[in-house]
Amino acid sequence: MTVIEAIQKRYSCRAYLEKPVEKEKLEKIFEAARQAPSAKNLQDWRFVATIDKDTKQRVADCTNHKDAFGKAGAIIAACSACKEIMKCGQQIAPIDVAIALEHMALAATELGLATCWIGSFDAGKVKEVLEIPKEVAIIELMALGYPAEGKRQTTREPVKNIVCCDKWQY
Ligand SMILES: Cc1cc2nc3c(=O)[nH]c(=O)nc-3n(C[C@H](O)[C@H](O)[C@H](O)COP(=O)(O)O)c2cc1C
Repeated sequence: MTVIEAIQKRYSCRAYLEKPVEKEKLEKIFEAARQAPSAKNLQDWRFVATIDKDTKQRVADCTNHKDAFGKAGAIIAACSACKEIMKCGQQIAPIDVAIALEHMALAATELGLATCWIGSFDAGKVKEVLEIPKEVAIIELMALGYPAEGKRQTTREPVKNIVCCDKWQY
């Protein structure tokens, strides 16, 4: 599968089979995260992979799709303690962690798995469940597992609406 094929195939999955994800596949997915670029090559990201059934359900209970995400093979808590702001004014942590997470999503797609980004969760409660220290931010969660549903078509703006050349023309 090419990267472009994986980009086209990826979708947000909200129905999973109750089937564990093989260790070898998880290793490949975390290798894809490890290879992601990061500002100043800081690599200030840490991933807590919940695979234990009870722990996973306790994390899923903090999200907006607790039944669906609880069945996923894993829920990944993507964390960073980086407080740095780049010269451009943007925070490093959410950008770096997001790139690594999307690497993971695309690698998972190639491996026959599906994913869902989860931003709708109670960070305080997830921190309690996973014993994440208060100075570490959970940037996002990601459900990951064997899909029980296929891709639904979602809409996207045409390229001409999102790209202009040489000057701002919106
Ligand atoms: C940063 C971010 C946060 C998201 N949070 C959630 C979420 O909390 N729950 C959920 O079901 N989907 C969530 N999604 C998935 C989006 O709803 C989804 O990407 C969008 O509707 C487009 O659908 P597609 O990914 O299937 O193409 C999130 C996606 C992103 C990028």
